[in-house]
Amino acid sequence: MSKYQIAVVVGSLRKDSFNRKLADAIVRLAPPEFSFQQVQINDLPLYNQDDDANQAESVKRLKNEIKSAQGILFVTPEYNRSIPGVLKNAIDHASRPYGQNVWAGKPAGVIGISIGVIGTAMSQQHLRNVLAFLDMPTLGQPEIFIQVKDGLFNEAGSIGADSKQFLQNWMDKYCAWVKKHAAG
Ligand SMILES: Cc1cc2nc3c(=O)[nH]c(=O)nc-3n(C[C@H](O)[C@H](O)[C@H](O)COP(=O)(O)O)c2cc1C
Repeated sequence: MSKYQIAVVVGSLRKDSFNRKLADAIVRLAPPEFSFQQVQINDLPLYNQDDDANQAESVKRLKNEIKSAQGILFVTPEYNRSIPGVLKNAIDHASRPYGQNVWAGKPAGVIGISIGVIGTAMSQQHLRNVLAFLDMPTLGQPEIFIQVKDGLFNEAGSIGADSKQFLQNWMDKYCAWVKKHAAG
């Protein structure tokens, strides 16, 4: 088992999601001591505070996956200048019941890809606000705002040559961030 296990939360349920493709591709740039597992969020019920004392099995599963991870990687689209509801729903579930927020203290990275020219900048900024409240140390720099372009992914689904160094630099910084916080 890898020394550092990272839970990857993709904020799109779409079959051909660019964000999922980005998540699949960027994790290939990490060193072998890191492993990445996408968490499932499409079977979570809509969050209802009445259920806090009796959380669904899918919610318990999500919380366990977050608890056992050494870091979290959020890869999210921008929906109407914010984060998608499905992502917020997952975040809310794992933050409750009150006092049992499993996100707390987990080092996080935030990236995203969009067809729009600002490349999820607003969405990421909203997400950072939420993560700050949840007490997650979140990598500040470098930022990654990607617009969908031909050649971003090669035929094998990896990051294409033109963007590889940029994303490699981000992954190197993210891994160092996780190590720093996992050690502390
Ligand atoms: C409800 C909705 C709202 C959207 N709002 C934005 C937006 O605010 N900014 C943007 O750049 N793209 C927006 N888009 C376009 C997304 O960038 C595009 O659908 C993208 O492919 C979504 O990510 P995915 O491929 O991972 O599903 C929106 C799409 C949907 C479905």
